[in-house]
Amino acid sequence: MAQQATAQIGVTGLAVMGRNLARNLARNGFTVAVHNRSPERTRSLLAEHGDEGTFVSSESMADFVASLERPRAVIVMVKAGGPTDAVIDELVPLLEDGDIVVDCGNAHFADTRRREEALRGHGLHFVGTGVSGGEEGALHGPSIMPGGSAESYRKLGPIFERIAAQVDGVPCCRHIGPDGAGHFVKMVHNGIEYADMQLIAEAYDLLRAGLSASPAEIAEIFREWNGGELESFLIEITADVLGHTDAATGRPFVDVVLDQAEQKGTGRWTVQSALDLGIPITGIAEATFARSLSGHADQRAAARRAFPDAGEKWQVDDRDTFVEDVRRALLASKIVAYAQGFDHIRAGSLEYDWDIDLGGTATIWRGGCIIRARFLDRIREAYDTERELPTLLVAPWFADRVGAGVPAWRRVVADAARAGVPTPAFSSSLAYFDALRAERLPAALIQGLRDNFGAHTYHRVDREGSFHTLWAGDRSEVEA
Ligand SMILES: NC(=O)c1ccc[n+]([C@@H]2O[C@H](COP(=O)([O-])OP(=O)(O)OC[C@H]3O[C@@H](n4cnc5c(N)ncnc54)[C@H](OP(=O)(O)O)[C@@H]3O)[C@@H](O)[C@H]2O)c1
Repeated sequence: MAQQATAQIGVTGLAVMGRNLARNLARNGFTVAVHNRSPERTRSLLAEHGDEGTFVSSESMADFVASLERPRAVIVMVKAGGPTDAVIDELVPLLEDGDIVVDCGNAHFADTRRREEALRGHGLHFVGTGVSGGEEGALHGPSIMPGGSAESYRKLGPIFERIAAQVDGVPCCRHIGPDGAGHFVKMVHNGIEYADMQLIAEAYDLLRAGLSASPAEIAEIFREWNGGELESFLIEITADVLGHTDAATGRPFVDVVLDQAEQKGTGRWTVQSALDLGIPITGIAEATFARSLSGHADQRAAARRAFPDAGEKWQVDDRDTFVEDVRRALLASKIVAYAQGFDHIRAGSLEYDWDIDLGGTATIWRGGCIIRARFLDRIREAYDTERELPTLLVAPWFADRVGAGVPAWRRVVADAARAGVPTPAFSSSLAYFDALRAERLPAALIQGLRDNFGAHTYHRVDREGSFHTLWAGDRSEVEA
């Protein structure tokens, strides 16, 4: 018997993310078509959670498509890369003009742009959608960043806004912009997440080295910080993780975890894209490289053997002042990381003609996602007040925090350098801040060197035009 077209939306790919997203949709009253390549997953979803709402399950892709109301909206939640293309290839011949394919996986925005163009050629909408919040978010309310056409958002918007996290009655979902805009913004979100975590990890390391404090004591400090300007999901779970004791050994959990982090792709993508666009996202880059460095165990062992005592002993005299210094330095460095991330989004938006609303983007990261934080409201205010803000650092609320934090920031970075405690993200953020505010940069010398060895020419501060000095001749200057 032919399938009745009753489902408002479909999900194909029912591993943990797709399964939870389908349950979230059903719990919110939508009739959800569900499908998975291997039918066992579909059956187990129905067996375990079938009573949570209305599911229409299919074991073939053709039945799945036939069970959807038109225009059809199909969420693809499969392994990113080749599997996504394989599923799209299977879907396309079954769909009709105006139907919508939504890729909620972690795709690279360039792949999304390619897929969007290809599906447009078939009369279909392709909506690359960033989904943040992990499996819990998918089930209880993620932050959702859909790209694709405005027309497709008219169908998807009311559905996604209903299942997204809500903060102050505002859904953490909005149309980001055409084609790959949603996946681009999700990529930068993940890059900022890298920077945020690295900064938190450095703050912990500083407190541990400077105070000789235990992880449990440092957990208390983070718990206190979470009651103020730093309030965020990541600070909250830092307190949790630092306060946790390993059941097997009775030691602090953080001391039994191997200190080698992975960088699985999105940090790298963010840095690669920033290099292409010429945007200095130094905090995100340092965080990505710090993870790579942590994984180079042999090099670390060799260096440790060669330089066992390269730092000085660290003696903190006033505990409370030091803790407050680290807090201020963390906040200032974090503001730099977000300022850089938003610069990156603005540059991508200009390059690809996406017209992304930066304030709106901050709004949908307030809930559901990993970097959810109190100060995202301030970012929204800053960009809503001045759309062409040159950098977040100069918006009044941020300028106040950074300005007030500068002496502490310098003390912390200098003390850490003397003691030999690595702070790549803290110190590169401070260097970025100082470079931005410098009256003159040594880039002038670089231009001089380039003209010397390669006749690359330079501009002068006092006259229009391009110039070259005849370095090998009489050193007179000619107009180029
Ligand atoms: N936003 C987040 O926080 C977050 C977190 C985790 C994952 N993700 C992203 O969400 C997507 C799904 O993640 P996941 O962890 O739930 O699943 P996953 O492990 O990435 O992928 C497993 C799913 O892909 C299907 N699949 C794999 N190859 C396929 C192919 N060639 N044809 C058809 N189906 C294929 C599997 O079907 P079978 O059951 O038949 O093998 C299964 O349903 C991924 O893109 C992932 O990167 C996002």
